[in-house]
Amino acid sequence: MRAALKFIPIVLIILSALTGLGHNKEKHIKSHNDYVKMKKITLLLIVFVITTALLLTGCSGNTNEKQQNKAAMESHTGDKIMHNMHSMEDHRVSLHLSPEKAKHQLMNMRNHLQAVQQIINYLSKDDFDSASFIASSRLGLTNEMKKMCSSFGNEKFENLGLEFHKSADKMSEVMKTKNKNKALEALTLTLNYCVTCHSVFRQ
Ligand code: HEC
Repeated sequence: MRAALKFIPIVLIILSALTGLGHNKEKHIKSHNDYVKMKKITLLLIVFVITTALLLTGCSGNTNEKQQNKAAMESHTGDKIMHNMHSMEDHRVSLHLSPEKAKHQLMNMRNHLQAVQQIINYLSKDDFDSASFIASSRLGLTNEMKKMCSSFGNEKFENLGLEFHKSADKMSEVMKTKNKNKALEALTLTLNYCVTCHSVFRQ
């Protein structure tokens, strides 16, 4: 398209030469009528060439724009797909649990979540004693939890689990002071362990 535009000035020059645009050609034209006719044809040709040129420019502009948009969209889609693929890749460490153990662990986890729900509910009602009790009895470091944490054969997981349960015991103590802000801070610290472990380990 662009290449075609380069020829437009050349075409214009040739046309002007052929149709006698130059002043010195006037004397070769015999009658006035012929001269007027020539002038009309020249004008028509010029209008035709300019219109074609404008159309070509318009088309090529549009095409370029469309191509650029398409390319931009393709690269955007590509980025999105790459991003999704990247975020869907699971780089977490697998614990290689047997189906039975996996089931047991998930049940344990759902209990943890329920405990957090109860704690928040009690805190919202300023029932600090109940919140404190749930924190230690359901999330604290009991012998059962100690055994559970060490049964996965992964030291890092075990330590994270133990630290998590200890933080719940601390949270339980903080709740006894009946300071809601401090209680929520302590809950946040415990929840950080949930988030950290989930981002590092999978079944
Ligand atoms: C020491 C590690 C660890 C800690 C701490 C931990 N989790 Fe988990 N949790 C896991 C693992 C591993 C899974 C399985 C995730 C997977 O395979 O994608 C899991 C799964 C879950 C699930 C999914 C249950 C299901 O039925 O699918 C819930 C809910 C959950 N955890 C809640 C919690 C909450 C709430 C806390 C904190 C109060 C917590 N977890 C603390 C390791 C942990």
